[in-house]
Amino acid sequence: MTGYLITVEGPDGSGKSTQARLLAEHLGAIYTREPGGTELGEKLRDMVLDPNIEGLSDRAEALMIAAARAQHVEEVVRPALEQEKNVVSDRFLESSVAYQGYGRGLGSEEILDISMFATQGLKADLIVLIDVDAPLASNRRGKNLDRIENAGDDFHSRVMNAYRAMASDDPERWVVIDGSGTVAEVSRQVIDQVEVRLEKHCLLYTSPSPRDATLSGMAGWGWKK
Ligand code: TMP
Repeated sequence: MTGYLITVEGPDGSGKSTQARLLAEHLGAIYTREPGGTELGEKLRDMVLDPNIEGLSDRAEALMIAAARAQHVEEVVRPALEQEKNVVSDRFLESSVAYQGYGRGLGSEEILDISMFATQGLKADLIVLIDVDAPLASNRRGKNLDRIENAGDDFHSRVMNAYRAMASDDPERWVVIDGSGTVAEVSRQVIDQVEVRLEKHCLLYTSPSPRDATLSGMAGWGWKK
């Protein structure tokens, strides 16, 4: 038995980082982020987001983020899960599918392949999508933009559409939250919805027996045993 990996996704300006922190605090889970979460990952993050770096190819961007993810999983995420700690990651694999696969147009299958290589097959158990419309997200991003935030309105629309499509294709693994309210309102919804899922899957039990008993009947859910 291992801990659970819950990831928080959304477009730039969705307020997802604040929500991920509040969720981790509420659950007593480890908070971490991508790209980043390790010394190497944070260095790669700085390079990938640096608005002064010009001419970085889309494939190089995808591979730098995948390299950060590989390090993150090996150094932080997997060890925590193996110690039965729950992890909340502010972005994970689905960010790459949305941003590099659809936003940059590199293809969802190709990006999924390099991401799964990076994680050695590790996937999130539950994904929270903070859904906000493009004008609100753009407004919240403000004017001081990093390299990816500065990729343009069409890019960000493709990212949001990709998230919505992934969530509707796999409703058992995704929770979609309307991110248009205040921090407190959105946080309440995130926590409520995540708790509903956790209770549904008996993940709140810390004793092995009820959790194992329930999880053993979940073969079709894709949830870990
Ligand atoms: P953040 O500031 O919301 O944490 O995200 C950093 C930026 O990195 C954000 O613009 C999304 C981008 N990103 C990708 O393009 N692909 C990825 O796989 C990840 C994790 C982040």
